[in-house]
Amino acid sequence: MCGIIGIAGQTTVTDRLVDGLKRLEYRGYDSSGIAILSGGELSRARAEGKIKNLEAHIKDHPLNGQTGIAHTRWATHGVPNETNAHPHKSGRVAVVHNGIIENFLDLRESLKGQREFRTETDTEVVAHLVDVELENGKTPREAFAATLKKLHGAYAFGVIIDGVEDEIFCARAGSPLALGIGDDEHYLGSDAMAMAQLTNRLIYLEEGDWAVIRPDGFEIFDLKDQPVTRDVTIISGGPAMAEKGNYRHFMLKEIYEQPETITQTLGNYVDEFRLSANIPESVDFKDFDRVIIIACGTACYAGMVAKYWFEQVAGLAVDIDVASEFRYRRPVLGDRSLFLAVSQSGETADTLAALRYCKEAGLKTAALVNVMTSTMAREADIALPINAGPEIGVASTKAFTSQLTALAALALSAAVSRGTLSREGEIRLTRELIKLPRKVTGALELDKMIEGLAFELSKAKSAFYLGRGSQVPIAFEGALKLKEISYIHAEGYAAGELKHGPIALIEDGTPVIVLAPYDELFEKTISNLQEVASRGARITLITDEIGAKSAANMAADMIVVPSSDSFVAPILTTIAVQLLAYHTAVHLGTDVDQPRNLAKSVTVE
Ligand code: F6R
Repeated sequence: MCGIIGIAGQTTVTDRLVDGLKRLEYRGYDSSGIAILSGGELSRARAEGKIKNLEAHIKDHPLNGQTGIAHTRWATHGVPNETNAHPHKSGRVAVVHNGIIENFLDLRESLKGQREFRTETDTEVVAHLVDVELENGKTPREAFAATLKKLHGAYAFGVIIDGVEDEIFCARAGSPLALGIGDDEHYLGSDAMAMAQLTNRLIYLEEGDWAVIRPDGFEIFDLKDQPVTRDVTIISGGPAMAEKGNYRHFMLKEIYEQPETITQTLGNYVDEFRLSANIPESVDFKDFDRVIIIACGTACYAGMVAKYWFEQVAGLAVDIDVASEFRYRRPVLGDRSLFLAVSQSGETADTLAALRYCKEAGLKTAALVNVMTSTMAREADIALPINAGPEIGVASTKAFTSQLTALAALALSAAVSRGTLSREGEIRLTRELIKLPRKVTGALELDKMIEGLAFELSKAKSAFYLGRGSQVPIAFEGALKLKEISYIHAEGYAAGELKHGPIALIEDGTPVIVLAPYDELFEKTISNLQEVASRGARITLITDEIGAKSAANMAADMIVVPSSDSFVAPILTTIAVQLLAYHTAVHLGTDVDQPRNLAKSVTVE
């Protein structure tokens, strides 16, 4: 989390840095700041809250120069106020940082008596350390390199130094950082998005790399301070892809993009002529007797749905766990397991750590990601794209349905290669996948009706989402979407579990959203629906056409998504829970695209 951008330019950089910060705001928006070198002199501006506050501050107190660094913060150490906002400054040095310096307390202690600390952050100590080295007579390069050797933890840095015209020092370990190549200037950024308006030619720094960039060039050094060269990556897709268009929020735009994004995912994983799954040759599920799926949040719920698919269709055991727990419980990995990370960003710190843990243990690793230039895509043995395009809304929507689509195709392919699915079965399920974009369009037509239902939900203090089978993770996802953007407390439950305790919370009018397409578990789910309805719950039933006929009059409200095979039904009910959460949040007037306390990319553990 936190976003970094830097420009070593030939013309004034302030506006372009602020523009880059806006593109990075999805990584955090607790505070932001900018530091500029002009005539070798350093000045900075910082503001609490969103980038627009920094912009207003700069309007009143302009600062100009041709070399600068900027930062948007998601607070870890220290409250989100202006004092703790980056860049942090000590003497001649200004620093922006993404990550966590784990030994910052020891380092602060080592400077006791020599330096006064003004912030609660882990980052400030880095500015002091570089400045102390400069005072001790080291050159700027030596001072920066010597400081890096003292740090433990995760970092991506941008550093400028008073008196050092035109140069930005940067480094990465554990947190992503890329250099951008322009015609007569150079950039640094947390990701391609930061530099989308500036360049599409990037160099991703490797673990332990540090670099010096100038308008006319750059030098990269490895962990041992030896000069190295790194490959240039050309990024496709222009900056226009990150615009909101006519939509009120990115989230709504991304919900509406799903017929197209699912089509793009299918393009990669399904052969429409042969009517079969079409996955990279490097993945052959015959080689494995287990898949270990690790992810966080919404991506983890996609993995949970995949567990039903892999086990039911391919007879292949799946372990699924949240990444923050996985490696600390010393999991039994087995030697015929495939590790599969699922991550929109490909940068989530816990998921990345789990991938590295399994790679080190000798497992074959795969990463299903949206950002193919991400660290996970680069480090996994097999990188599997979902092709959903940039997702800007902090709450994941289109990435989730693309993850599901790709995972469904992977499960199909596993079933075929393991001989658990007949050719007829393969054709039938592939057809179901191919019909998805049209059916998702059908589900989106419920938008206006769901907007009406959301008005009722927006008055609630708390809500439940229930489902059975592969609808359980969608119940979790529905509850997560509602909590994170509307701030209404919500819980997802396996419908059969409610009577083992949580049913005590049901009282008159408690909203309960029941996910029950007409499948082999329908009757049982409806029994659970009746258990809560008879205790006063206000039921919203999300079902399909047959389910709606069978359960007529059993729910206060009904959302009827297009009928489908139960294999793909979780993708269709997802659309309904996304729209319900979205409209509830809009009714409540929350910040839908940037909900409080959150960041899109969680690059700290
Ligand atoms: C919720 C949401 C998060 C992410 C989670 C993992 O709407 O977006 O729960 O799913 O932070 O992020 P990625 O997929 O980037 O690893």
